[in-house]
Amino acid sequence: IKYNFCSLEAFYLTEPNEQKINALEKISINPHLCLCCCTFQTGRVDKNYPLVIGHSGPVLDIDWCPHDDNILASGSEDCTAMVWQIPDHALTRPLSEPIVVLEGHSKRVGIVTWHPTARNILLTAGSDNLIIIWNVGTGEPLISMDDHPDLIYSISWNRNGSLFCTTCKDRRLRVCDPRKRDVVAERLAPHEGIRPMRAIFTKDGNIFTTGFTRMSQRELGLWDPTNFEEPIALLELDTSNGVLLPYYDPDANMVYLCGKGDSSIRYFEITEEPPYVHYLNTFSSKEPQRGMGFMPKRGVDVTKCEIARLFKLLDKKCEPITMTVPRKSDLFQDDLYPDTAGPEPAMEPEEWLDGRNEDPILVSLKEGYVPPKSRELKVSKKNVLDSRPTTRRSMSTCDTNSLPRLLEELQNLKATVLSQEKRICDLENKLSQYTNGTA
Ligand SMILES: *[C@@H]1O[C@H](CO)[C@@H](O)[C@H](O)[C@H]1NC(C)=O
Repeated sequence: IKYNFCSLEAFYLTEPNEQKINALEKISINPHLCLCCCTFQTGRVDKNYPLVIGHSGPVLDIDWCPHDDNILASGSEDCTAMVWQIPDHALTRPLSEPIVVLEGHSKRVGIVTWHPTARNILLTAGSDNLIIIWNVGTGEPLISMDDHPDLIYSISWNRNGSLFCTTCKDRRLRVCDPRKRDVVAERLAPHEGIRPMRAIFTKDGNIFTTGFTRMSQRELGLWDPTNFEEPIALLELDTSNGVLLPYYDPDANMVYLCGKGDSSIRYFEITEEPPYVHYLNTFSSKEPQRGMGFMPKRGVDVTKCEIARLFKLLDKKCEPITMTVPRKSDLFQDDLYPDTAGPEPAMEPEEWLDGRNEDPILVSLKEGYVPPKSRELKVSKKNVLDSRPTTRRSMSTCDTNSLPRLLEELQNLKATVLSQEKRICDLENKLSQYTNGTA
């Protein structure tokens, strides 16, 4: 397993034990490249590793595209988000040219998250309290929302991508309808403490939250966004002070809870009957985790009855944690593996923008993990790279690859200007002949 780490101003690839990692924050995993990608704010960057360099400030968030395991989005303190195409067999040399640079925020971009079912739709949120939804295939911002008065802590799309929910420093939980450009429901202080909250949509449209009580107890909640008055369930957990990061498996309707600084992972089932949030068990290990990543379900090893794979970030390494169900049989266990979200997007960006909603296209795990059919980025390079004015690109980067193309374009342009000039000249001559002739 290779690990893809993000550093101060770059991400890089390394084996886990070889690198000092400080202040790890985020991790994103995809099953095809078997890479995990983390950001951290401080730490030594070993220059010998091939880097993904492009941002001019710290990388704050990353997210692998759910529809293309070679595509990664990143957000940075440099106020931009970038989209990268990571080659199949990891990096052998530095990658410095993103496929597209998304410029629209005026402050650091702290959250990047792909739409679950529409191709090429990426949401970014910044410290300018702005949410922008992009079509990365054209590089265009489609939707911009400024309903949040303060820093946004977390954002989660619902299953079909019609809505997303946010938690904000103003202690509100919001449900936003991006195509109405509006907040459709909100709840002040679902957890009464002032410390950060997290919220995720469950597959049936409820919202699972983590936060703190006024007495700084850690607390879990389950909410119905159509009736925010009363929680469906609210339970106190313990008195630790690490933020609880929830990871959700919609197939099993289970939530894995990883507290920053905890050494355990607690998991719960969301049930339709009381208690609604049902404690199942705790996975314990010795070392406290700095963060955690959750691999998409389509990557699990069905021959080992693996039902979830998490990646635990420690001080100097990243450790896979495999959740398996002990079974004697070698046969495929249908009951453990309902069809799961596959890599095919369910709709095009324009369809989503026009109001269409689609659940994920499900695939069977019977044959094990099958990488996405087309790994060629659907970002239409034509739109992004060729038909756009080349001024910004040519000025902002000294990109040797595109230099010949730019020169060629310049030649073409010159030729066009010359031929136009000649044509104007001819026309002028004709015109003067004409006017002379009639005079
Ligand atoms: C999408 O999800 C929303 C919220 O859960 C639901 O109201 C709507 O019916 C869903 N749409 C489709 C087409 O499944």
